[in-house]
Formats: sequence, structure tokens, C-alpha cells
Amino acid sequence: MVPGTATPVRLPYDEPSYNDLLGLFPPGTVTAPDGGLRIGGCHVAELAERYGTPALLIDEGALRARARRYADGLAARRPNSAVAFASKAFPCTAVYRLLAEEGLSIDVASDGELALALAGGTDPAKVIVHGNAKTDDYLRTAVETGAGLVVIDNFDDIDRLERILAGTPGREQPVLVRVTPDVRPDTHEAISTGQRGSKFGLLLPQAREAIARLRGSDRLRLDGLHVHVGSQILDSEPFVQAVEAVAELGDFDVYDLGGGLGSRYTYEDRPPSVEDYLDTLTAAADALLPASARVIVEPGRSMVAEAGVSLYRVVTVKRGGGETFVAVDGGMGDNLEVSLYGQRFEATVATRVGGGEPCRLVGRHCESGDTLSAGVLLDDPRPGDLIAVPVTGAYTYSLSNNYNGSCRPPVVFCHDGQSRAVVRRETHADLMRRDLP
Ligand code: LLP
Repeated sequence: MVPGTATPVRLPYDEPSYNDLLGLFPPGTVTAPDGGLRIGGCHVAELAERYGTPALLIDEGALRARARRYADGLAARRPNSAVAFASKAFPCTAVYRLLAEEGLSIDVASDGELALALAGGTDPAKVIVHGNAKTDDYLRTAVETGAGLVVIDNFDDIDRLERILAGTPGREQPVLVRVTPDVRPDTHEAISTGQRGSKFGLLLPQAREAIARLRGSDRLRLDGLHVHVGSQILDSEPFVQAVEAVAELGDFDVYDLGGGLGSRYTYEDRPPSVEDYLDTLTAAADALLPASARVIVEPGRSMVAEAGVSLYRVVTVKRGGGETFVAVDGGMGDNLEVSLYGQRFEATVATRVGGGEPCRLVGRHCESGDTLSAGVLLDDPRPGDLIAVPVTGAYTYSLSNNYNGSCRPPVVFCHDGQSRAVVRRETHADLMRRDLP
């Protein structure tokens, strides 16, 4: 540890090759003849000029390609199946719209996400409703809009839904029971959900009780089971263990096996590919679940992370004390992954890609934990330079905030050399919008 800092500096490490660095950016990212990055065919300097910084760039083609890879990959391995985007990873209407166009189902975890999904054109029949504390209003909206599946997390969900459905004669709500499989993946504690002691779902004995109650219900139709063991999981074993656990509860028509596949944030990360993950999951499903059962997966992070790049401008460079601090115009206001989960990111000067001197890339917020990358090589960073941080498509927009009165960045879709803002930058007027005199 460097004295007075919250995160370990991982220096020195072998200088990554130029190709490795580009490999973390959306496929198709290239460098222009002047050395600047082109994302979705758009030059970063032009994007910075047009939209300002910080900005969250999304390679639209990469996102569509990932959606197809998931949907086609699962359908090829298990024809009776569906991919549902776990929309908490990037809940903006443009993303819902794009993934609805690609035919995906959508997982929502709140009434807000449900409203956004519907506004983004999601077919209500393709909505899967989650939450460990679903309010009456949320459940009523779900029922009234015709949500395809409601996932029962607890016995109060059953009571509430029964009451709501008593007031809507003729409506039968298909449901799944969320099972806590007692599986502990190797990931950050805050994003592990399948272990005994998790606030989510029902352990096997309670799940059996819920199943029995639901089988006796004439308003709730029990279609099957749901399981989700956590996020940023870099090996396949926990997914197999989760299937083994739900298989113990008998035969059902639907198994939603959750999300959780990790993304490659750094040179060292080696997550299974989408194909390897689907191979493992469907092999377990084929071996342990009824052949006719419908299998659903719910990727969030691995759907959107790698399509995103955060673009910042260097405000100041501070040398001395054995470290070079490169401070940019964003930070934990637009990317909480580092502060909350210790996530590591790589980065580069966006106009001089790869290599350089070891730096600590920090944000502009008032705390030492506001670090974007603790040990990263940047080529002669100077105030005014653009910095690109790859793999920021997941959970950055959703967790962005107004700490220090920061205005949340725009989201810019880039494709075939064309760009368009799908979320505009926040303004100071936005910051005051809810304040009452
Ligand atoms: N399904 C359910 C029921 C979930 O709770 C989640 C994520 C997913 C699917 C998608 O998991 P993924 O494929 O994204 O790993 N805020 C944290 C992540 C929390 C994930 C919560 N649940 C972060 O920024 O890392």
C-alpha cells in the first residue's frame, strides 16, 4: 500500500502490448493515422469536441453483436430458451430500445426500471419482475401492464400478489420462485447473492414451502424456478452448482438461471467467453433439468460492459513523492465500480495509445478513494489530454451520482462513424430541479 491511499498500486507490471490494450476496447476500435482512438468509427477528439467530457461512449454495433451472440448462442444450444437483459446494468431507454429491437427479454428490479423498460418499447410479456422488497405499487403495475413473469423472492410477495390479483378478475400471473442455492462464488462480497445468509430468495426448505403454496393458488401460476448467484464471476463452477441446487426441487417448465458472467476489465482477467459460459450452463441444464424445460439467462454486465468507453479530459498532472497523479474531470460521480467493489480498470491517453509512465489516474471528487485506476501506464500525460477508460458500459450509468454537485455525463452511441447522444449531459439547472423554495 502507498501510505495514505485506499487502493494498492499494482506496479510495476510488464508493459502491455498495444494490441492487448486495444483488445479491451469494443471490437472494431482502431487508431486513426494521427494516433487517436476511433470508437464505432468516431474519432475521440471529435466526440470530445462535440459532446464534451466526461462522456460515456457506447459502440452500438458492439452492443448489438453481443446481444446476438448471446441470443443465437443460447438458441443453438437450447432451442426453448430466452435471453433477458438484466437492465440494472444500463437502464436508459435507448439501451432498452436497442435490446428490444434485438428481441431480448428484460429483467427489471424496480418500478423505475419497469417504467423505463416499457418506455423503451419492451414487450410487457417479455418482462421479468425482480426485487427482494417489491411494493404494492410495483407489483400492481407489473400485473396491470401484463408482465410476463414475476419472481417470488419471499412469502410476502405471494400474499401481495394474491391480494392484487383478487382485484383483477380473470388475470392469472405466471411466477417463478427465487431459490437461494447456498453457493458462494469467488467475487466481491457485496455482489455475491447465492450464499446462505443472502437477503435474496429462499433456501431450499423454504422454497419447497413456497412451491407448495403456489401450487394451491388459483391466481398465481407457478411456471418454475429462478436462481442467481452473483456478479463478476470469472469461473463456471458456481453456475453448475446453482443448476444442481434447483434440480433438487423437482421438474418445472421454466428455469431462469440468472446472470453473473464476469467481464474482462484488465489484462489479467480471464472470464469464460459467452460461448464457454453457455456451453457449461446448457450442459448442466441438459444433464439435470427436464429436456422440455425453457431455460432463461439474465446477463447484465457481460451484455454491456465491453461496449462502453469512458472519455475524460486531464485537468492536472502532479508529479513527485514517487507517484504521478493524473486527475481528470470525472471520477466516482460517473464510475463507482472502483470505490464500491475495488474493480480495476486499464486506461490510455486516447490520442497516444498504450505504453508510457506508471500513473495513478484519479478523479476530481473530494475523497482519496476517488481513483479510476491505481496503476496504469500513460504516455506523457498532460493537462488537456483525453483519457479513455475501456469496459465501462456496465453499472456506471446506473450508479452515477451528483457527488460534489457533479453533472452526470451524456451517453453517446457511436456507429459507422456517426454519433448521437441518447442521454444528454446534466446541467446545473437539473441539479436544482427538485429543490423547493
Ligand atoms: N439477475 C439478477 C436477479 C440480478 O440480481 C443480477 C445482478 C443479474 C441478473 C445480472 O448480473 P450480471 O450479469 O450483471 O452480473 N452494482 C453492482 C452489480 C450488482 C449486480 C446485481 N444483480 C456492480 O456495479 O458491480
